[in-house]
Amino acid sequence: MVFKPFALEKFLSDWEQKVRFNYSESGVHPVELGELLDMADTGAGALRTVPLNYPEVNGDLTLRERIAALYQGAAPDNVLVTVGVSEANYLLANTILEPGEELTVMRPTYMQVEGTARNRGSVVKTFALDETRDWALDIDALHDAVGEHTKAIAVVNPNNPTGKILEESEMIALVLAAERAGAWLIADEVYGGAERERSDQTPTFWGRSDRVIVVNSLSKAYGLPGLRIGWVVAPSEVVTALWRRHEYATVSTSMLGNRLAEMALRPDVRPRLIERTRGLIRHGFSVLQEVLGQHQDVFSMVPPMASALSFVHYKLPISSTEFVDRLRTEKSVLVAPGHCFGLDRHLRISSALPEDYLREGLGRMNDLVTEIVAGL
Ligand SMILES: Cc1ncc(COP(=O)(O)O)c(C=O)c1O
Repeated sequence: MVFKPFALEKFLSDWEQKVRFNYSESGVHPVELGELLDMADTGAGALRTVPLNYPEVNGDLTLRERIAALYQGAAPDNVLVTVGVSEANYLLANTILEPGEELTVMRPTYMQVEGTARNRGSVVKTFALDETRDWALDIDALHDAVGEHTKAIAVVNPNNPTGKILEESEMIALVLAAERAGAWLIADEVYGGAERERSDQTPTFWGRSDRVIVVNSLSKAYGLPGLRIGWVVAPSEVVTALWRRHEYATVSTSMLGNRLAEMALRPDVRPRLIERTRGLIRHGFSVLQEVLGQHQDVFSMVPPMASALSFVHYKLPISSTEFVDRLRTEKSVLVAPGHCFGLDRHLRISSALPEDYLREGLGRMNDLVTEIVAGL
């Protein structure tokens, strides 16, 4: 088996620190430690007595209680605390799927589960979100891609990179497709809470069938990626199987991460973090839309329903990799190429950033478009 790197994350680690304008991030401006402590009405002194020991290997009980409280019917034994969704996805692809077994995923998507599964010899089938219908789920393609050999279906909702939030009928179609096949439905809900247009939170897949596994973290909707705290919510026997792999992979997350995560998920703190994120997302998007509007003949997009990300289609005769390479080398601006999400001729652009910073770099991108159109 030839190992294939995670194309998006490799691209980000290679370049994100080396450009003047970085719009390749997938979250919002991170919360500072002092801001989180203020929201939790806790002085920094309280951290002085935190023992810098291992926490419980499957996650601090108080934190697992807080997480379980977010999912109706879940108990702390349904929760495993992981190093972000990254570890959760990695453990799942190594636990749920055996080499040769079939996984079905959406397109476009964040390709971690798929890449990990491919590296273990899984067969991967796809179904599309249809851009011409505002990224609606292509139900016929879903039915074609799920059959008696499907072991798992993996979705990201709200979606990275499109910001699409699945409709209720689309969620039902996915749950039924998984049930018919006797497959697991793995739902990455890391952008739940980062809604741009609506104020109700994206509904979870949890509880819709006993074949559902949900992963989430504090990295996107909460603005706390540096805590490296994520979780899996799953039937307890699945949690136990993942926990055995977690012991090999990381032993545990960190004590400070567990304590601060528990603060972030308190009922009086969590809504404030979510509101902060939504505020950052909403303003940045209007700036992006205005600046890209200068090239209406080239750029088009379905406005994201959630996340700070826009997945922008362009009409130019070059691939997304070539466009992004020129943008980086000639203009010192970084955006993520569509091919890293399985859909070329698109750019993923993050916009929850200070207005001047956003306008200047996007202006440089517009200059590059003018040059390409002129044949330069
Ligand atoms: C959909 C999705 N899942 C998972 C991750 C990994 O996030 P983390 O490990 O910080 O929770 C990302 C990061 O960009 C993502 O976009």
